[in-house]
Amino acid sequence: MLYSAKVMEHFSNPRNAGKISRPDGEGIVGNIKCGDQLTIYIKVEGDRLSDVRFLVFGCAASIATSSMTTELVKGKTIAEAMAVTEQDVIDALDGLPPVKHHCSNLAVSALRLAIQDYEEKKTKSAVQRLQMSLLKSLTSLKDRIVTHMMYRLHGREDSEE
Ligand code: FES
Repeated sequence: MLYSAKVMEHFSNPRNAGKISRPDGEGIVGNIKCGDQLTIYIKVEGDRLSDVRFLVFGCAASIATSSMTTELVKGKTIAEAMAVTEQDVIDALDGLPPVKHHCSNLAVSALRLAIQDYEEKKTKSAVQRLQMSLLKSLTSLKDRIVTHMMYRLHGREDSEE
């Protein structure tokens, strides 16, 4: 048979298929050779992937590799998930025919893009929080300077009277 029993099992009964509404990160990749496309969605709690889901328009191998990739990384830390390779996915599926190895790239690449998307959003919101906090500090400082100036001005006027 072309595919291992594990590939067939994941193809027939894919794990974690579907979309996450309001994901923390999203990665989309397409294979220009075959036209297949895969999106991976992630939810992150602490630094762990609390949920990972996928939507794929593709071949049996891309469905099985997406399913296995989500199983391999769910619950793992970001660093552990980033370390998962195409070969790890192929090994976990008891192999893929060499002509189908490129299908496993879709899932791993989409996962890495989703993590990258999450990291970028996290950095962006940290910068926004810093900007807000700086703005608050500046406003408070400005208010204190104005109050101080008013006090001094009025203090002087009072003493001149
Ligand atoms: S043939 Fe396109 S991903 Fe498998």
